[in-house]
Amino acid sequence: MPLDVPTAIAQRRSIKTFKPNAIAPDLLKQLVELTVAAPSSYNIQGWRIILVQDAAQKAALAEAAWGQAQIVQAPVTFVFATDVSVGTGDLTPVYEQGLATGAWSEATVSYFKTAIPQFYANVGDKAREYGIKDALIAATHLMLAAESLGLSTCPLNGWVEEKVKAVVGLEDKPEVAIALLVTVGYASEPRKNPGRLPLSYNVFQDKFGIPYVG
Ligand SMILES: Cc1cc2nc3c(=O)[nH]c(=O)nc-3n(C[C@H](O)[C@H](O)[C@H](O)COP(=O)(O)O)c2cc1C
Repeated sequence: MPLDVPTAIAQRRSIKTFKPNAIAPDLLKQLVELTVAAPSSYNIQGWRIILVQDAAQKAALAEAAWGQAQIVQAPVTFVFATDVSVGTGDLTPVYEQGLATGAWSEATVSYFKTAIPQFYANVGDKAREYGIKDALIAATHLMLAAESLGLSTCPLNGWVEEKVKAVVGLEDKPEVAIALLVTVGYASEPRKNPGRLPLSYNVFQDKFGIPYVG
């Protein structure tokens, strides 16, 4: 039985050592599908996700990530990249899907055809930030789905972007940025919780500075 969402959130920990056990292909597919079920701005789904499983690829990726051994140990590392140019590119498949599912009317699509490219043209140098938001929400879906299905994860920020891009074949794509790496596998260490600060420390009521105490 998968864990319910509150339980998965409460028990998830960043796991740094993994058993060598592989993830069954059906389970991995389920994880991928739950990952891309994440919301994205205008549903543009600009994330580009590379599953690194090959031993030589894992070794190269670990090297690009300051030698972090969990990438070699874990059966798979998800590399969350994002195509920053997607909002001003060809979104026909997104529109067609919105129409086919019945979620979007012809009028909505016709509005989006103007509004989306305009929105992304206007975000200017924030385009990277916008793409990264979508990719990080997808990565969060992955971490919670994995926990719910009996796996563990570790999000990784410790890597050199150009090196990661070279490993996964993105070296010639300046429009694609790396958002996060997430290792996935079966934990071989206990879940140690480093704890969270009291809510009054960083959650506020109506205005910054007025502590939320619940
Ligand atoms: C954006 C982000 C980047 C992180 N990068 C790394 C990393 O490069 N290596 C690592 O071992 N842990 C990394 N972590 C894991 C954090 O250290 C961990 O989430 C934090 O200590 C809280 O522990 P918990 O996830 O078990 O609650 C990262 C976490 C986040 C959210």
